[in-house]
Amino acid sequence: MAAEKRLILALDVSGSAEAARWTRLLGGEIGVFKIGLELFISQGPKIIKEVRQAGAEAIFLDLKLHDIPATMRAAARQAADLGVDFLTCHCEQTDIFTGMDLAPTRLLGITVLTSLEDRDLERQGYSGDLSRPLALARRRAQLALEAGCQGIVCSGHEAGSMRRIMGPEALIVCPGIRLSQDGPDDQKRIATPGQALAAGASHLVVGRPILRARDPLAAARDFAKAMQAPAPLLATIC
Ligand code: C5P
Repeated sequence: MAAEKRLILALDVSGSAEAARWTRLLGGEIGVFKIGLELFISQGPKIIKEVRQAGAEAIFLDLKLHDIPATMRAAARQAADLGVDFLTCHCEQTDIFTGMDLAPTRLLGITVLTSLEDRDLERQGYSGDLSRPLALARRRAQLALEAGCQGIVCSGHEAGSMRRIMGPEALIVCPGIRLSQDGPDDQKRIATPGQALAAGASHLVVGRPILRARDPLAAARDFAKAMQAPAPLLATIC
């Protein structure tokens, strides 16, 4: 698959004009544009059409649903009816989607947020093995698999393990992606494009390293290039 089809830009902005501007600027380098909570809450469902009209080939609606079963099912149906290509929900609840057909929208389970590490999970009450992000992510990926999700979201370091659980066809989407010169921001489990792809990721999500770059187009091209380079050539940053 071409690098631009595997690179997902996190449109973490609040304005529709700004979102359209980023999409027009980067549409040649990036195939999938991710609309997250900030943009969706500020602009509403119309933003999906606007981003598509600005040139997005595919839309990733990152709502990270987590609620009681009836609400989750109804919300997922509404999101799929908006015509998005990808939709996220937390893995803990994926079993309620068993047998539900959202096609062509593909449902991805969030395993463990890349902003969390061991001590955060301990603070949340997880103990023993499950206070380690990898072990918890494995447990949750199993739930997503059993529910028939088309993929999961995890850190680049967990991608190999997730690939073994989910199988060769699954979408393994990794945020928290950084080149060696980038800072982590609020992410804790970061990986380079090469690390994540070598481990088995199918798609990478990048936001701030492109949106806040001095030259965003060049930064997007750097990510696309790094996604084509063989993994051993890339610097290890964590
Ligand atoms: O700016 P940055 O590259 O860190 O952006 C990462 C994006 O990926 C954000 O939009 C965030 O909501 C999303 N994300 C994440 N961790 C997950 C799932 C999604 O960081 N587990």
